[in-house]
Amino acid sequence: MLYTRPSLLAPIFILLLYICLSLYRRYAYQRKMRREGCQPIPKYPHTDPFLGLDHRRVMLEGTKRGEVGATRAKIHAKCGHTYEYNVFGQRTVCTMNMDNIRTVVGPSSANFVKPPGSKQAAHPLLTDNLVALDGHEWKQSRSLVMPVLTKEQAVDLPALERHIQKLLKLIPRDGSTVDLQPLFQRLFIDRATEFVLGDSTNTLDPDEEAHPEADKFLTMFEDVMRMLGQRVQAGHLLFLRGRDVQWHQDIATIFATVDGFIDKAAARQHSASPRFSLVEHYVDEINDKAAVRSQLMSVFFGSRDQISISMSLLMFALARHPEVWLKLRREVLAQPLGPSTESTSRLPYTRNVVYEGLRIFSPVLMSRRQCDADCILPSGGGKDGQAPILIPRGAIVEMNIQGLHRDRTIWGESADEFLPERWTDRTPGWKYIPFLAGKRVCPARDLSVTQMIYLLARLVQEFELLQNRDPVLELVDDIRNVRLSRRVQVALIPP
Ligand code: HEM
Repeated sequence: MLYTRPSLLAPIFILLLYICLSLYRRYAYQRKMRREGCQPIPKYPHTDPFLGLDHRRVMLEGTKRGEVGATRAKIHAKCGHTYEYNVFGQRTVCTMNMDNIRTVVGPSSANFVKPPGSKQAAHPLLTDNLVALDGHEWKQSRSLVMPVLTKEQAVDLPALERHIQKLLKLIPRDGSTVDLQPLFQRLFIDRATEFVLGDSTNTLDPDEEAHPEADKFLTMFEDVMRMLGQRVQAGHLLFLRGRDVQWHQDIATIFATVDGFIDKAAARQHSASPRFSLVEHYVDEINDKAAVRSQLMSVFFGSRDQISISMSLLMFALARHPEVWLKLRREVLAQPLGPSTESTSRLPYTRNVVYEGLRIFSPVLMSRRQCDADCILPSGGGKDGQAPILIPRGAIVEMNIQGLHRDRTIWGESADEFLPERWTDRTPGWKYIPFLAGKRVCPARDLSVTQMIYLLARLVQEFELLQNRDPVLELVDDIRNVRLSRRVQVALIPP
């Protein structure tokens, strides 16, 4: 007679229940898939189908080699433009298909939300604010920030020019090598803190000792961001990281610093010369310090590094394309250049160069959403990868922005080349989404492009030649929300 110890009954029952539920879910999914005219999603050939550790290992090794985008590209080449894989038991669909991405973030994207797992990983750094919220609360947050970010005053090219003047003083004019990346980082940190927090960190000021507090704050922010990446990557297994004590301590210090900026803005509120900054705007609109801080964190998080990384990547490409620099110079020197959007709008080739830089080296490689009801994406299913696919409730959809930007079926055989001329007769649409698109498009898209055009034009105006001084010609990419792994080693030669 079969005898089972009573202490084993409960686990066996739970296991059986789990297996039955999984089988039922699979059956229900297949039935719905057929009913809706969908085809199966190609699967990553896991050797570990339970936790997907093999896929993770491939991605981690790619990251170590500095080849995040290239590793993804290889998997797409094997599995198709859209494929499914397992992240610690979480069903995940990665797609670089334009129509799928449009369905996820386009106007009818009500069923796709920011993944709750990422929100949990980002807590308390990014909570209850623009980047973390969904639905009605997100709309409210967004409507608070949009009037400020879309104002001419936010672009503020005269303010950027003041910082550029300091930057130019730090670029050697004797042909010696300079790494532009840390300089751009400081330039845009100075501008971002001025615009978002109301006071510039002024890290480009010549007196190195003048800003130890700013340096400490920024280093801490970088550490926190690095840790945030690790926490998001932990996915379902976030709990295994324990309490992440250092992360929480650093966040407390960052919050205290931001609170200091809020207090100063509140004190300036009724002064004779109010400043134009986001903190002043929020202090006017929101009557709660923690809520102001939370909103500021989301914009600071978005604004801190993206433009400087994009500019670094662009200069990296330009240093390897001297013919483009000469063409830029012809355009920029042909007319007066002032710190105004009117001036930048007269530089179509410069704009195309910026567009191309953001295409080939998008600073945001990937964006994720979670499906909160069963959804259909128009492409990726079946043998030819063309049939609609059913995304079950709870699955994550990863939109591979870099994959889309390098897709040969869209950009032709030159997809991997830096070719600004391709923009002469093209306009950006859904195939080009460095700022994403749809209702959650980056609210600072126009501001960022205009500032990049202006900075590039100023460098082109100032220097006759840009020379590459890096023996490695290929970009070794990296998780870029902190900084580039490959520095931008160049020489800028004045006329
Ligand atoms: C070249 C520079 C930039 C690039 C390429 C960029 C790219 C992006 C992308 C791809 C998203 C969507 C992320 C997602 O939903 O998964 C985004 C969102 C956002 N960006 Fe930017 N960004 C840039 C600069 C900025 C700047 C300068 C600011 C602030 C001044 C900013 C603020 C934000 C905010 C607040 C969001 C969240 C919007 C929302 O969820 O409604 N970004 N950005």
